[in-house]
Amino acid sequence: MSKKSKTRCIGILTAGGDCPGLNAAIRAIAKAAMNEYDIKVIGIHDGFRGLVENRVTRLDNRTVSGILTMGGTILGTSRDKPHRMPMGGKLVDMVDAAVANAKNLQMDAIVCLGGGGTQKNALRLQQRGGIPVLTLPKTIDNDVAGTDISFGYDTAVTIATDAIDRLHTTATSHHRVIVCEVMGHSAGWLALSSGVAGGADVILIPEIPFEYDKIVDYLLERRRTGKRFSIIAVAEGAMSVEQAKKMEQELKAGKKKDKKKREEEDTVSTLPIGEEGHAVQLVREPRASTIARHIQERSGAEVRVTSLGHVQRGGVPTPFDRSLCTRLGTRAVELLADGVTNVMVAYKSGECVPVPLEEVAGQRKTVPQDHELIRSARLVGTCFGD
Ligand code: F6P
Repeated sequence: MSKKSKTRCIGILTAGGDCPGLNAAIRAIAKAAMNEYDIKVIGIHDGFRGLVENRVTRLDNRTVSGILTMGGTILGTSRDKPHRMPMGGKLVDMVDAAVANAKNLQMDAIVCLGGGGTQKNALRLQQRGGIPVLTLPKTIDNDVAGTDISFGYDTAVTIATDAIDRLHTTATSHHRVIVCEVMGHSAGWLALSSGVAGGADVILIPEIPFEYDKIVDYLLERRRTGKRFSIIAVAEGAMSVEQAKKMEQELKAGKKKDKKKREEEDTVSTLPIGEEGHAVQLVREPRASTIARHIQERSGAEVRVTSLGHVQRGGVPTPFDRSLCTRLGTRAVELLADGVTNVMVAYKSGECVPVPLEEVAGQRKTVPQDHELIRSARLVGTCFGD
């Protein structure tokens, strides 16, 4: 006998960068909805683009069977935004089409699994189109505000820590400095956590702009005390003090950018359009190479670079992420059954709780300078380049 539910039909979409745990969350939502509350579940392909293009699949127990441990997302994903959808080389506002499709499919709510950008895009659908939404915090960056942790993060920390462990053995054999670039977008959570867990000697994060001289002095001191190798964990968003100052000046100048000019830019996509028809994000050169070159020039050490890149996003989710996704997904369905929408299901102090989406969207959670992990790392002698 199904439990009572105020919700009869939901859509699920996964948007933004993929990560291990997405399929575990899809499985939890679909199983709980279908089997406990007799709610119809429609999978939306490739994030918000699939909603705009009406590319959907009815989910059933067969389609979500055996995906708990599968990396990636069976629905596919994209970074395309409903209000700036790349269509034939232009960025077009397609929110109305997305809303119309959701209504035609009789979706009572759309569950959006994504990071900071997805929280904003989900809220936009609700505010502009009146479509009830509910989100889960997904990203290996762990920078979604309003939740202690995002799913995918624990798995990425595990992957990056394993990599740093492996880099230790080769660095000690060759007496080298190895710079390991870790993802994290513009937050340092991933580099900080994997750097501490992996025993990195230097950890560089965006929240603490670094000085090359401080890093080199630290490395030379290590060598003087007999340590002929060092590991440097670098967040992809880390920057020097000079770079941070330059970015701050550009941001200030950018804020004055003429609104009309910005609108003009929006009508013509400056990015090439891929085979899939959506904007192709340009390749970004790893920042670690520049940092490594500066360190080699200043210290005379033999330096090597490893950029972990998308390895951190692949493979099987950790047991923690599998359980977290199962808890978040089933809690989402309980809330939907009670008619609760326009919230993000957050993980706070060990509990899965609803947080108003308006409080989360557009916010980014970065590492506080006095975070306990930073204090602990400093107390065991880790250098942050400051
Ligand atoms: O947001 C997750 C993330 O992996 C970031 O850490 C990284 O900067 C970005 O996605 C890479 O984006 P893409 O997968 O589009 O190259």
